[in-house]
Amino acid sequence: MKILIVGATSAIAQETAKHFAREQAELFLIARDKTKVEAVAADLIVRGAGHVASYPLDVTHIDALHAAVQAAVTDLQGLDAVLIAHGSLSDQRACEDSVAETLQEFRINCLSVIALLTIVANYFERQGTGCIAVISSVAGDRGRRSNYVYGAAKGAVSIFLEGLRSRLVRAGVSVVTIKPGFVDTPMTAHMKKNALFATPEAVGKRIYEVIKHPRDVLYVPWFWRPVMSFLRHVPHRVYKQLPF
Ligand SMILES: NC(=O)c1ccc[n+]([C@@H]2O[C@H](COP(=O)([O-])OP(=O)(O)OC[C@H]3O[C@@H](n4cnc5c(N)ncnc54)[C@H](OP(=O)(O)O)[C@@H]3O)[C@@H](O)[C@H]2O)c1
Repeated sequence: MKILIVGATSAIAQETAKHFAREQAELFLIARDKTKVEAVAADLIVRGAGHVASYPLDVTHIDALHAAVQAAVTDLQGLDAVLIAHGSLSDQRACEDSVAETLQEFRINCLSVIALLTIVANYFERQGTGCIAVISSVAGDRGRRSNYVYGAAKGAVSIFLEGLRSRLVRAGVSVVTIKPGFVDTPMTAHMKKNALFATPEAVGKRIYEVIKHPRDVLYVPWFWRPVMSFLRHVPHRVYKQLPF
């Protein structure tokens, strides 16, 4: 299998990539930090990957994304799947104080993803097969006072994916929206841990499985599906009084 992973230094993406490495997959890794992504690539080779290339890129450089995807296609001589994993857990208070901060968070969590999806969707549509998987979040299912900038960016991605899925189903291309709850990764290092936190190993394994056998929306762990289904039905007049 030939896989492009964007945000490949993410703890969750690394865990997913380890499963692909074990089956000698060929991987093209895009990530911001050159040293980190080269270390991840070296580790995946040791774990059995058939081929790993790394491509350092800050994904907010939107004009550079087309060339990055093209480099992946050329290097791997094709593509079977794409996993988009990069993200930033926005500082909500900083965003409330700053238009620039809010827009930068949207650039990372939403605009770069939508740009990448526009590029890879056309590639896979022409090819007539493939899987596009994107890590969104349960935070995108409903706005919360404590993280609505991050939530709105993820929510926009989830809606974009829903529409894209309906377009690409006709071409035989799968589009998977991955919605993790809390995961114990560097992104949440500052948060107090509780029983709701999943491990990146468990989440990465589920993502690997869903890319191999695509479904439309993966809540991970599974219990977030009923939790978010309930929360989505709480009336606005009650929801806006909730403490989180
Ligand atoms: N952890 C959670 O509780 C949780 C819950 C729901 C959804 N998610 C989503 O899961 C995905 C993976 O996150 P994670 O938990 O694995 O956290 P993580 O280990 O902190 O990974 C985040 C990744 O995004 C990369 N990134 C950030 N800004 C970037 C940019 N401008 N250009 C390129 N790469 C950039 C980071 O690169 P650097 O290594 O260079 O910093 C890092 O590799 C994210 O989309 C996140 O929103 C996480």
